[in-house]
Amino acid sequence: MADDMQKLQTPQGIHDILPRDHEYFTFIKKVVRHRCRQAGFRRITTPILEYTEVFDRSIGEDTDIVSKEMYTFTDRSGRSLTLKPEGTAGAVRSYIQHGMKELPQPVELYYIEPHFRYDRPQKGRYRMFWQIGVEIIGESDPALDVQCIFLAWKFFKDLGVADRFTLQLNNIGSQKSRAKYKEALVNYYMGKERNLCEDCQRRLQSNPLRLLDCKIEDCRILAQLAPKFDQYRSEEDAAFHKTVKEFLTEVGIEYTENDQLVRGLDYYTQTVFEFWDKETHGQNAVGGGGRYDGLVEQMGGEPTPGVGFALGIERLIMHMKAAGVIVPSKDEVHIFVAQLGDEAKKKCLLLIDELRERGVRTVGALGKGSMKAQLRLADKFAVPYCLILGATEVREKVIIVRDMAKGVQRAVPMNKVVDEVVKLIGKENLDTYTPGEISF
Ligand code: HAM
Repeated sequence: MADDMQKLQTPQGIHDILPRDHEYFTFIKKVVRHRCRQAGFRRITTPILEYTEVFDRSIGEDTDIVSKEMYTFTDRSGRSLTLKPEGTAGAVRSYIQHGMKELPQPVELYYIEPHFRYDRPQKGRYRMFWQIGVEIIGESDPALDVQCIFLAWKFFKDLGVADRFTLQLNNIGSQKSRAKYKEALVNYYMGKERNLCEDCQRRLQSNPLRLLDCKIEDCRILAQLAPKFDQYRSEEDAAFHKTVKEFLTEVGIEYTENDQLVRGLDYYTQTVFEFWDKETHGQNAVGGGGRYDGLVEQMGGEPTPGVGFALGIERLIMHMKAAGVIVPSKDEVHIFVAQLGDEAKKKCLLLIDELRERGVRTVGALGKGSMKAQLRLADKFAVPYCLILGATEVREKVIIVRDMAKGVQRAVPMNKVVDEVVKLIGKENLDTYTPGEISF
């Protein structure tokens, strides 16, 4: 490589998902699909790109996401497009666009998708990240809020990380009761503006609620002394919140009431929640969500309530690794086929295919390497068995089966070798599937 040629890399904060992590991804996706199907959810994929107003009108123009983290560009016809920074806005846009109001309500959707935020990259914080998201649109009942949390908890249990998180819970009321509270907050902060960070000084007028969850030390101290929302919660909001808590207790989920939890997106009403790491707390939450009863209307649909949550897959994987969770590796190769000579290579082509058809994960060295080089490669694949075929074996219609761990080998008649290999690998370990009956 020429010295002046810069090594090509992924953009900052954006990562490849390498094969080992894909095993975690696959495992997580299986758990999510299984649990979601059991609960009647159906999968949706919204586009990676939406018109920018889809996010402006939902997440809120004064949020960090919209004001500084979106990947926005103008297309060739001058329309502003944005890479989706989260999944709820697209799901709601799709609900309205496709008339899902006509379906039995509530409509229960889930997605497993990449998202993009121009965030400050650090451990667990990326510019492209994957989320599992769940949305229940069309009905407002505390039982649905709890169903969301319960489902997330099922995921955590299946993934072996449930005891690493706490559930932080708050109720931020309806838009109406919040208006009074916002007024009280603005009054409280009056005269204290100079002690606030720049972002909070700006937010004080546009979105005072966000001052409560600022992570800057001075802002946090002031937030702790600020008026509490429970004095402004309407009777209805309070009753809703009480029922959510009762239902959580009913299903055995512990929660911590956190009256400073407001979330970083503007569409929430009533219940909001986050799943915090027991050690790092609010830093890099593994997931969060809440109710968004005004969002469908705000985006041009009929008034329709909704609730949902999303989990960060990279953060889940970090927790699974930290908890020592090993996921089954389905990528391990069973058989390595080594060959020497044109005739042997020819015979290998169908042999390899037959093994694969029977569910044996087979890699063939079909290049030009010497037998020694091929066996070294077989070692690197860490296969339990190697099949060896040279000119002599072709002539004698046999194949050598080598047990790599024991270092012993024997000749098996060519027409029996596939059955023999299947026996060695064990039927339960085969990678078979019947098209039409694939287990996703
Ligand atoms: P969120 O709290 O912005 O909520 O994101 C949910 C989760 O996505 C976070 O808890 C985190 O695990 C992951 N995440 C967010 N940003 C990053 C990042 N820069 N790097 C790595 N992981 C990240 C939402 O997105 C809402 N749409 C959730 C929701 C669904 N509310 C109702 N329905």
